[in-house]
Amino acid sequence: RIAGPSALVIFGVTGDLSRRKLMPAVYDLAHRGLLPPSFALVGFARREWSDQEFAETVKDAVKEHSRTGFSEEQWERLAEGIRFVEGSFDDDAAFDELKQTLTELDAKHGTDGNHAFYLAIPPNAFPTVLSQLKRTGMAVSGAADTWQRVVIEKPFGHDLDSAIELNELVNSVFPEESVFRIDHYLGKETVQNILALRFANQLFEPLWNSNSIDHVQITMAEDIGLGGRAGYYDGIGAARDVIQNHLLQLLALIAMEEPISFSPRELQAEKIKVLSSTRNILPLEENSARGQYGPGWQGSEHVSGLVEEGFPPDSTTETFAAIALEVDTRRWAGVPFYLRTGKRLGRRVTEIALVFKRAPHLPFDDSMTAELGQNAMVIRIQPDEGVTLRFGSKVPSTGMEVRDVNMDFSYGEAFNVSSPEAYERLLLDVLLGEPSLFPVNEEVELSWQILDPVLDAWARADDAGPEIYEAGTWGPESADAMLERTGRAWRRP
Ligand code: BG6
Repeated sequence: RIAGPSALVIFGVTGDLSRRKLMPAVYDLAHRGLLPPSFALVGFARREWSDQEFAETVKDAVKEHSRTGFSEEQWERLAEGIRFVEGSFDDDAAFDELKQTLTELDAKHGTDGNHAFYLAIPPNAFPTVLSQLKRTGMAVSGAADTWQRVVIEKPFGHDLDSAIELNELVNSVFPEESVFRIDHYLGKETVQNILALRFANQLFEPLWNSNSIDHVQITMAEDIGLGGRAGYYDGIGAARDVIQNHLLQLLALIAMEEPISFSPRELQAEKIKVLSSTRNILPLEENSARGQYGPGWQGSEHVSGLVEEGFPPDSTTETFAAIALEVDTRRWAGVPFYLRTGKRLGRRVTEIALVFKRAPHLPFDDSMTAELGQNAMVIRIQPDEGVTLRFGSKVPSTGMEVRDVNMDFSYGEAFNVSSPEAYERLLLDVLLGEPSLFPVNEEVELSWQILDPVLDAWARADDAGPEIYEAGTWGPESADAMLERTGRAWRRP
């Protein structure tokens, strides 16, 4: 579907997210023919830029990061709808000017009163911007057939209490159906494919429960460090940055029941049910782990640890976090879900592994199955997108020895088209008013409810601080111990 007439206003337009993700996504959508000629992009920031100067900035970002390739002709068409408003968030006159700009675009460029406001700004600026949108009347639809939407980026709060406060604040200005919270993992093709895989096939679903599955591992590993984001990251850490949102959303998609339909309401209802039944495995001290990367080698690159990146040397913020959860339903009774994420790990990979129970009986001598592990289905979210089934097979020989082999599906080979960037899909859905891929306030609050006890336990034990792990490895020893206690082990992707 193609978006209708609309304007996208970005606050925080000088930031990294805008430059690397949002501006290129807007251009790529236009280039793919998914934005109408009347589409407008409005930047708001404290820079002395003219419309042309802002457009040049967008153009540079597009040239550097576009996925569809730069076309001057396409650019000229998009540039006709690019505007810039200079001001700070507490500047009433600037917001009045923004309103004026939108009114002009509605009348002359054909955006028709439909406006999306993207808050790509630090959360402490949300209240000011939201109250400006309210004060000027920009948050409400001027006419019955027009819409106003707000898009917000995580962190959605710092814990349950602050998330509730933030939701109340946002909902006091925009009704929940106009709020689009970005969890960019939900915009990834491979994440959307989880439901296709589960519910379009007969093959997997009969095995998708505690009768067959021993445990589930959800891993989001990064090889990069904090880069230039030390300021944002200090005090947030891996659990808040990734587990609270991306990994719990993946868990919800893996563990949820079949929705009655793919309507946003039904999907949300099922995700909410799963998150409501998700509990921490106790005791928390043994069923969670946190670490901070220290010096080490990442391939041929020497990493000197966090020191090099301007991180407060005494910071106890974790760069690695792992937790163990259970989903308290009939389908999943007794199946642990292990979630882990970290920076400066062995390599960049996000995957979900469903690890199966062992066959109930093996008619082989032990020596024949010495190399046989547990069957697994691995959903490879990125970077090598696809699915692997791991099972035992006879080793070609005159004897009978069984060893693990992989059967692979690869997106690249099967479809031969590159997937759209997550932000393209999500921005398009905002403009279309299609809410399926955006977590609602209840999901956000339930996720904090799951994470808060772990964060509290860590805060109580803070004198110990996170365990230092060597950069380029797979995290702290306490994370391995967490699984070893139950006779299991993390996969080495
Ligand atoms: C973001 C986190 O949400 O996801 C970052 O804030 C992380 O810390 C990023 O680097 C990873 O995204 P992706 O799509 O590269 O896995």
